Amino acid sequence: MLHALVDALGADAVLADADRCAPYETDWTGAFTGRALAVVRPATREQVGAVVDICRTTRVGLVPQGGNTGLVGAAVPRDGEVVVDLRRFDTIDDVDVTARQVTVGAGVRLAELQRAVEVHGLRYAVDFAARDSATVGGSIATNAGGINFLRFGGTREQVVGVEAVLGSGLVMRRLAGIEKDNTGYDLAGLLCGSEGTLGIVTRARLRLVPLPTHRVTALVGVDSVAAATATLTAVRAAVAELEAAELMLADGIDLVGRAFGWPPPLERAWPAYLLLEAAADHDPTDALAGALGRCAGVGEVAVAGADDGAARRTLLWRHREHHTLALRGLGPVVKLDVTVPLGVLAAFVDGLDATVHDVDPDVALCVFGHLGDGNLHVNLTGHRADDPRAAHDLERDVLGSVVAHGGCISAEHGIGRLKAAWLDLDRSRDELAAMRAVKAALDPDGVMRPGVLFPLPI
Ligand code: MLT
Ligand code: ZN
Repeated sequence: MLHALVDALGADAVLADADRCAPYETDWTGAFTGRALAVVRPATREQVGAVVDICRTTRVGLVPQGGNTGLVGAAVPRDGEVVVDLRRFDTIDDVDVTARQVTVGAGVRLAELQRAVEVHGLRYAVDFAARDSATVGGSIATNAGGINFLRFGGTREQVVGVEAVLGSGLVMRRLAGIEKDNTGYDLAGLLCGSEGTLGIVTRARLRLVPLPTHRVTALVGVDSVAAATATLTAVRAAVAELEAAELMLADGIDLVGRAFGWPPPLERAWPAYLLLEAAADHDPTDALAGALGRCAGVGEVAVAGADDGAARRTLLWRHREHHTLALRGLGPVVKLDVTVPLGVLAAFVDGLDATVHDVDPDVALCVFGHLGDGNLHVNLTGHRADDPRAAHDLERDVLGSVVAHGGCISAEHGIGRLKAAWLDLDRSRDELAAMRAVKAALDPDGVMRPGVLFPLPI
């Protein structure tokens, strides 16, 4: 098989020795690790097609990988698969300012894409903390959400078309950028969030939005999650340009402050924090300040306005953006990424302590997330990491509570390997059967990302 891969891609593009494969074999969290048969680094769609054909013939699994920043173990091998590193697909075509679109390779990093389009007064609407490493292909495979979802939607909403090699070896190529296209199944949309289980995206045509000239950020201290939700509802009604509404709690703010040696972001400590951001081609500061002024639950506000410069905005964002890194410093983390309807979100968070501590009184809870989307990142540390039952029982009860509150067990990170065993909590038997039928049609040999989304054996 290695000979066949070398023949197809050249020796430089096939890594088989342990040292060179190692960086591809463990995920960013350190929770998922496995062995790759080889890592291949194709540079053309034809080479990707050849790798898929070889893997189909030999029945060896394929693991597409971009920036390896995923959080559910979908992009690292389990046992003897071929990892397909897509970072050589790094071209950014000329920006089409008329259509407000651009075609980019799957390996382009989000921050690079952002820089390339900003000079044209445009912007790619999906943004998140891993922007310097995460790739366009990976964010399509995971249908990444990020901090601006409440205004622009997630990755699926930005993808106009893709070029991809399916698990069957068929090639899809629809990059003309036709926005109004009603010609049957939305195959590009289907690949968004497919987590590498259907095919390998090599290029994508992406929608862009105008770069705003004015931006205002406000960090708001409030007494409770319920007050944060009420404040958000009021601000949303008054500020159409609201594009981020992030929730943090006191323990998360403390954790980040301790981890990085930063002082608290507000004058006094608050039980909950709401980070709001609005951006437009006019200054939205007055609209945001006016809305906050009318909210009874607002305790303290720090603002970075259009004239304050980027440094002050960074100061307001840094506690939020460093939660994930600070948590990683605590050792093994049970990371759950869920959506709960906003109307019951505060009750869900209030009940989490009991849900978790009924399972294990020693577990520490850190909850933060994208309040505007009802998306909470529930992080649990201090569990018995040497006992797989410990994480299993915590996941079962927290995800069970999510479903009981009418929520969903993955908001934006995906199912991956982490939640494959829990998918039937959220999806009905008929839905799962339909999903398996799609998988079987597009990946008939089952080579694409075995063990992800559907538990093994598929
Ligand atoms: C975030 O919102 O910061 C990311 O989804 C990462 C995380 O949940 O840890
Ligand atoms: Zn997130």
